[in-house]
Amino acid sequence: MKRYFGRKVITAIFISGRGSNMRNLIDFSITKKSPININLVFSNNKNAGGLKYAKEKKINTICLDNKKFQILENKLLKILKEKKIKLICLAGFMKILSSNFIKKYDGKIINIHPSLLPKYKGLNTHQRVMDNKEKYTGCTVHYVNSRLDSGKIIIQKKIKIQKNDTAVKIAKKVLMEEHKIYPKAILKIFS
Ligand code: GAR
Repeated sequence: MKRYFGRKVITAIFISGRGSNMRNLIDFSITKKSPININLVFSNNKNAGGLKYAKEKKINTICLDNKKFQILENKLLKILKEKKIKLICLAGFMKILSSNFIKKYDGKIINIHPSLLPKYKGLNTHQRVMDNKEKYTGCTVHYVNSRLDSGKIIIQKKIKIQKNDTAVKIAKKVLMEEHKIYPKAILKIFS
């Protein structure tokens, strides 16, 4: 991906909940080394915790109701176009985007997932990792394509599972690593 004459890339973050990755990306975006600027936070859930922080940081936020999501996807595409969004970062966004939407932003949507993809696509990753007595887990930033959690991997971090780890403990450890690799992935795609 290219930056336009070294300018920061106009970026949107999509969230559905807590938004700790969103918060981390907003904080990263205001550092000098960041190649991106966050111009919009979109949520499919009006109660998403992350929206409050985005508003505090004076970032435009948009919510579209969950049930109407498919109908409103086109409305969202229009807004993204108007706002000249060039990169979309999914950060705990729990809705599957249509292939039409993905095609319009081909190669410009990235996602963070709490597993070592291609293992453990989908939901409830940490519990499944524990149930399968895995030795390692981790997190992945990848490009989004029309197949769930299957796009090209940009960066991954592997962590060892300790004897006394539980799914909850692992979730916390992985999240800490997520916060490190998401900005690294962004630096990597614009390097
Ligand atoms: C994160 O662990 C993220 O990797 C995961 O949801 C959490 C959101 O936390 N995403 C997925 O599972 C996507 N399939 P956050 O809202 O605090 O960033």
